Parts: sequence; structure tokens; C-alpha cells
Amino acid sequence: MKILILHGPNLNLLGTREPEVYGSLTLDEINARLVDLGKSLGTEVICQQSNHEGALIDALHEARAWADGVVFNPGGYTHTSVALRDAVTAIGIPVVEVHLSNVYAREEFRHTSLLSGVCKGKITGFGWQSYALGLRALVESDS
Ligand code: DQA
Repeated sequence: MKILILHGPNLNLLGTREPEVYGSLTLDEINARLVDLGKSLGTEVICQQSNHEGALIDALHEARAWADGVVFNPGGYTHTSVALRDAVTAIGIPVVEVHLSNVYAREEFRHTSLLSGVCKGKITGFGWQSYALGLRALVESDS
């Protein structure tokens, strides 16, 4: 299997960005852990990040050609982007929405996700482990 881990805006700043909310691991450290986890699951993990909505849409479109699934943290676009929702629907491969923080324990505007309804599932609040759980769910899921 091949899985895309896709990180949205501001996640390139992990490690220094509000560590009390998002943890102290950098994006590179998280990605390295996910690549290792992928290896132990017999899965190739490719990690990408963009701060730009269009680039995230392009990455989802491209994933259709090579990935068996996507673990996607859309960052702030979670709460605003019809275009990302449409891209998830269009590609027809399973996408798991993940968040480092528990969005439901935060401001009310973070309680709304335009993407959840078109994703296979959603994991929120477990720090970097949200990605690990999403990866494991995609690899081990039999439906
Ligand atoms: C986030 C939660 C979003 O509300 C926020 O805008 C982010 C990160 C998370 O991983 O907890 O950028 O997706």
C-alpha cells in the first residue's frame, strides 16, 4: 500500500507553533515517525505539506493516481473550504481527517468541519498520534 500524509496550512511551524496546543514535535519529526510506522505496517508513506488551498487540491488529485488512501490534516481550511471537500469527494479514495488538537474542546468555529461528511473517518485530539491512528486505520481497514 501507499498512503499520502497531507498537512495543511501553518503545520510547517509545528514545534514552535503553540506547543501547548499542538505539541513540541516538528513536522519533520512527526513525518519520520509516520514513515517508520508505515514500514512496520508494510506501507509506503509519502508526506506533503502546503499552506495553499490550491496546492492541497492538486496534491489530492495527484494522489488519485498513486495512493491507496490519504491521512489529511486540513488545518484551518477544515472549517472553511468547500473546494477541499469537493476534492476529497472527487478523488474517490479513502481520506481520514485528522487533527492534533481536540477541535471540540476549542473555539466554536472549530467544531464545524466541511470535510468530515465526505471523509471515511475522523480522529481528533491525540497529538501526532492522531496521524498514526489514521494511518493504521487506513492500512488495517478491510472496507
Ligand atoms: C488543527 C485544528 C485547526 O482548527 C487549526 O486551524 C489548525 C490545526 C489541528 O491539527 O488541531 O491549524 O487542524
